[in-house]
Amino acid sequence: MNVQLQHIVRNMPKAELHMHIEGSLEPELIFALAQRNGVQLPYPSVEALREAYAFQDLQSFLDIYYAGASVLLKEQDFYDMTAAYLDRAKADHVRHTEIFFDPQTHTARGVPMGDVIHGIHRACADSEVSATLILCFLRHLSEEDALATLEAALPYRDRFIGVGLDSSEVGHPPEKFARVFARARELGLHLVAHAGEEGPPAYIASALDVLHVERIDHGVRVLEDAALTRRVAAEKIALTVCPLSNVKLCVFDDMGGHNLLQLMDAGLVVTINSDDPAYFGGYVNANYEAVFASLPLGLQHAYDLAKNSFTASFLPQADKQKFIDELDAYFAAFNVV
Ligand code: HPA
Ligand code: ZN
Repeated sequence: MNVQLQHIVRNMPKAELHMHIEGSLEPELIFALAQRNGVQLPYPSVEALREAYAFQDLQSFLDIYYAGASVLLKEQDFYDMTAAYLDRAKADHVRHTEIFFDPQTHTARGVPMGDVIHGIHRACADSEVSATLILCFLRHLSEEDALATLEAALPYRDRFIGVGLDSSEVGHPPEKFARVFARARELGLHLVAHAGEEGPPAYIASALDVLHVERIDHGVRVLEDAALTRRVAAEKIALTVCPLSNVKLCVFDDMGGHNLLQLMDAGLVVTINSDDPAYFGGYVNANYEAVFASLPLGLQHAYDLAKNSFTASFLPQADKQKFIDELDAYFAAFNVV
């Protein structure tokens, strides 16, 4: 990638719409929190833990990701984790981020729901980066568990803007969560779901038709179904693509084989995101830099990806426009738009 394009991509204002806050726990912080909380880890050192970050698929990652999250016990732990991520996001010129969190990972260990939400929310309130929260249900657990989780979170309804669906995809189709998404919809929450990461395009269709989601997280397998691709493009349903994640979890063999450009060429609203930055080799700018280094992308793509990140956000229209105006001013010197 040429040096000027690299500089532009790195410094342009952007939003991040797909990152799991538990996936921002760096090994150093995992060890520090383990020590602070007296939690025994199955790894002898920071280096040994980092060496375990070689994944064959989504499940092999999730096993380590849930083990890492076991050090989170106190409200302050959630604060410290979130503050560390927001500092990294700010350094990458992220103006707005919509952060996923997995309450069931914590409430199942006896951590009160209020401590999870307050700790994450307090760090968001203290940050210069605009940040909102999306509560994700773990799809390997039952819908009853998801319904109980949503009810337990209702006292904190004003602290999160939406719900999502994550964890092991194959064998846990969106339909399994029809009732809990209907309930979230009645409550006026925004709706998203992981679909078409490892799972088939049919899961993308049912996330739209049964859950009524507004964005698809990942969604890279949409191209296997031409009619569905046309529909997702026509309805302007954004895909929150996570390139480094996709390569680390072997969805694609290497970055040169990633379908990001085909997705854009099909007219889809594509965004770039970090997913689990501590586990997959970098924060959002590392994801942009990896795709720009490996695929024939230019200045117009950079602008489109950043603009999409704001357009596809759940910000009020006036806030979207404010950030897009900043983006336009940034690009005014470079002959695009
Ligand atoms: N897919 C599904 N569940 C997840 C992911 C992911 O990429 N990251 C954290 N939980
Ligand atoms: Zn994800």
